[in-house]
Amino acid sequence: MQYNVTVIGSGPGGYVAAIRCAQLGFKTAIIEKYDTLGGTCLNVGCIPSKALLDSSEHFINAQEHFKEHGIEIPAPKVNLGQMIKRKGDVVKANVDGIAFLMKKNKIDVLKGVGSFVDKNTIKITKDGKESTITTEKVIIATGSKPTPLPFAAFDKKRIISSTEALELKEIPKHLIVIGGGVIGMELGSVYARIGTKVTVVEFLDNLIPTMDATLGKELQKIAKKLKMDLFLGHKVTAVENKGSEVTVKAEPKNGGAPVELKGDYCLVSIGRKPYTDGLGLDKIGIETVKGQIPVDDHLKTKVDNVYAIGDVVRGAMLAHKAEEEGVYVAETLAGQKPHVNYHLIPGVVYTWPEVASVGYTEEQLKESGKAYKVGSFPYKALGRARASMDTDGLVKILADKQTDEILGIHIIGARAADMIAAGVTAMEFRASAEDVSRMSHAHPTYMEAVKEACLAATENRPIHM
Ligand code: FAD
Ligand code: NAI
Repeated sequence: MQYNVTVIGSGPGGYVAAIRCAQLGFKTAIIEKYDTLGGTCLNVGCIPSKALLDSSEHFINAQEHFKEHGIEIPAPKVNLGQMIKRKGDVVKANVDGIAFLMKKNKIDVLKGVGSFVDKNTIKITKDGKESTITTEKVIIATGSKPTPLPFAAFDKKRIISSTEALELKEIPKHLIVIGGGVIGMELGSVYARIGTKVTVVEFLDNLIPTMDATLGKELQKIAKKLKMDLFLGHKVTAVENKGSEVTVKAEPKNGGAPVELKGDYCLVSIGRKPYTDGLGLDKIGIETVKGQIPVDDHLKTKVDNVYAIGDVVRGAMLAHKAEEEGVYVAETLAGQKPHVNYHLIPGVVYTWPEVASVGYTEEQLKESGKAYKVGSFPYKALGRARASMDTDGLVKILADKQTDEILGIHIIGARAADMIAAGVTAMEFRASAEDVSRMSHAHPTYMEAVKEACLAATENRPIHM
């Protein structure tokens, strides 16, 4: 077969690129080595983790909060098998949805491992059988895999990655999480809510350390409410599977007494690495740099008809970033002049309350020497938050000291994940804190906290604080 565009990998980068290519009139194929489409995000990432987060939130609400609302029920129990089954049903509905979209857009789905024969020929291998296609352009969207500790491989039984943590057959008694980043805090909170003792060992001095430090500090308080033990600033020195037990040794990185932890599972969530195994990049002369495929500002590799997007290239490893890049490349191939604003890709952690952020952090502004001002507003001063008893958290606005342009929006609190879209809109249109302060926000809503934080950033004039 001969195609205009062939996409390798069907995650959010790949399938979105394929749809946009088809919309633009290209004869398009997508190659996927697994049986289902959707990549990490739909199969073992965004969607299943959010399904379990949601189920565990329902449980803790039933267990701890219904009573205060005047709802009396017998003590709820967790049926982990049913929780995991529901998660599986959610995943199936989503991945089937992608298969439908491929059909609808007349995209050929080719199942098997795709590898370059040359820059216009791709070999597809499935169950020992090979076929080849030719193509004018290629978009590589092969994603990423979990990073193991250098001294303790994933055994997938006791020393596990997020993939196994989404499929456990029993509720762990003690889950030791290595890495207090996004996966560690999301999946750590799933199990903490349903009765697992969770201990987090994080190398740096704060949780979710790539985000504004205020958010990590607030998240620490929330983790404590879930009775998580936190060992921040600790370097893990050994992890050992001892059959039904796993031991983790760690020491404070600035000196002090080492700790030895014993648990039944150890989730290693220390980041992900780009995945290019079996792709045959050597056949077209592409060398990876720190695992990533090098691309120019137009996401083109050094080979003129080959592009790469998503987790396999530089930048945030996020589904929506991969999607934007998929659209960008498709439109570039069609001769359009698309645009991705990498500075305004929001980051969200789906704990409860949620954490969401866009733009510069205060630490980045300090380091750059830019003059800025800060306004913040706590959820506990918000009528809406009190009505629903979701009073943990705050909104923090960073604005340019001279021009008042909003430079960063950082939220930890109920519904932050959805609220951040308004922040992205404001920043895309280069709003000032004063602009947002003067916009009418419906009452009572959580978004009022953003308005109040903007009022706090401009001449310190919040109304409700
Ligand atoms: P992937 O989704 O990794 O897809 C790559 C695909 O390529 C895979 O299906 C793979 O099988 C296929 N492939 C690889 N090599 C070949 C080959 N040679 N031939 C054929 N097929 C091949 N991001 C968010 O934005 N929000 C979230 O809430 C979120 N939650 C997450 C939760 C977890 C537990 C994890 C692990 C990740 C989460 N992410 C989240 C990150 C998100 O999943 C990734 O950023 C996103 O999936 C990257 O998309 P991609 O298209 O680049 O690659
Ligand atoms: P991460 O980069 O978010 O967090 C890794 C954490 O591990 C960091 O805090 C780091 O300091 C720490 N760490 C690294 N090495 C360590 C060591 N040896 N000992 C102790 N701590 C160590 O990576 P994570 O959580 O594995 O997630 C991978 C990717 O998946 C992220 O880039 C993220 O973007 C994406 N993801 C996104 C989600 C979302 O958008 N809600 C949810 C889950 C994952």
